[in-house]
Amino acid sequence: MTDITDINERFLALCRGGRPDVTPVWFMRQAGRSLPEYRALRAGHDILDMCRTPELAAEVTMQPVRRLGVDAAILFSDIVVPLVPMGVELKIVSGVGPVIDSPLRDAGAIDSLKPLSPQEDVLETIGILRRELRVPLIGFGGAPFTLACYLIEGGPAKSHVHTRALMYGAPAVWHRLMDLLADATLEYLRAQVGAGAQAIQLFDSWAGDLGPLEYREFVLPTITRIMDGLAHLGVPRIVFGVGTGEFLGLLAGTGADVVGVDWRTPLDEARARTGGRVALQGNLDPAVCLAPWDVVHARAADVLVKGGGRGHIFNLGHGVLPDTDPATLEKLVEFVHGWTPDA
Ligand code: CP3
Repeated sequence: MTDITDINERFLALCRGGRPDVTPVWFMRQAGRSLPEYRALRAGHDILDMCRTPELAAEVTMQPVRRLGVDAAILFSDIVVPLVPMGVELKIVSGVGPVIDSPLRDAGAIDSLKPLSPQEDVLETIGILRRELRVPLIGFGGAPFTLACYLIEGGPAKSHVHTRALMYGAPAVWHRLMDLLADATLEYLRAQVGAGAQAIQLFDSWAGDLGPLEYREFVLPTITRIMDGLAHLGVPRIVFGVGTGEFLGLLAGTGADVVGVDWRTPLDEARARTGGRVALQGNLDPAVCLAPWDVVHARAADVLVKGGGRGHIFNLGHGVLPDTDPATLEKLVEFVHGWTPDA
């Protein structure tokens, strides 16, 4: 796969170990508040309603593709969306994140979670997108640990102390919760692929609150199980977490085709830690995008050089910050597409 001419295939080709003509680029949280067209639509709607309304979710998914020229779209939804049909009462508070009124802190609460039912509205959104989009569509889900952080803490929390306390203090309950969330996530991701998602990203955003040994003991088996359960579908699988520098090697062994790297670990170092077994995705610090263009340009060039011009999907090291000027992202896409390893 050395001669890739269809620009809409760059992202998938790279995920599959091919060498497209240029480095593909998309941004985590590319659909959202940095885009004025998102804010305009959002003004009249609750975010969870937007996620559940196929025409709106599809429109918001396409906004960054139109404006920025990225090589992939990511389904507009949120990692907590499938928790609602599992019986969790939650809201997404602007500027805060998901908030759950009755956090799950014991076996009884965990056993009361319902199995996930098919999410027809999400699948319908994917259907619309496959008809409308030319670039590939990435489906996604939250990884069990990160979902557990929201369920147990009840909302965004520093270092997730209640979650870790339950993990150590009641390992049997913990593993039941992990298994239940892994089952739901796997079903949800399979359904997304069935509806047309062409790649899958598993967000284990808060994984970095654990060290490698704890991650391996308490979380990793669920990631591997999800990756294994998707393998036969033949779509690329990406796993991403923040603060996972110490266990990139473990993530590379889960069966994932691509490992997302946060901004803390240089990509050449990440390559060494993953032993060249997977493609890498990342990892410009999102805060760099708030700096003047010459700074963004220099830092992005450094990411590209360390990425080595192969086996690398350009992205940020975490999501786009709401204050980011979309013009900066637009210029970044242009710069990445114009860059070659020997330039
Ligand atoms: O293009 C995209 O990537 C957007 C789709 C998307 C959203 N959430 C929409 C959203 C994706 C991929 C997510 C994933 C998500 N949600 C993660 C994993 C990625 C990550 O950032 O680590 C996590 C941890 C969440 C939980 C969550 N939901 C947070 C932390 C927030 C931000 C709270 C805030 O207001 O700052 C949300 C809300 C949310 N999800 C917004 C969007 C566009 C902003 C809400 C708004 O419009 O008010």
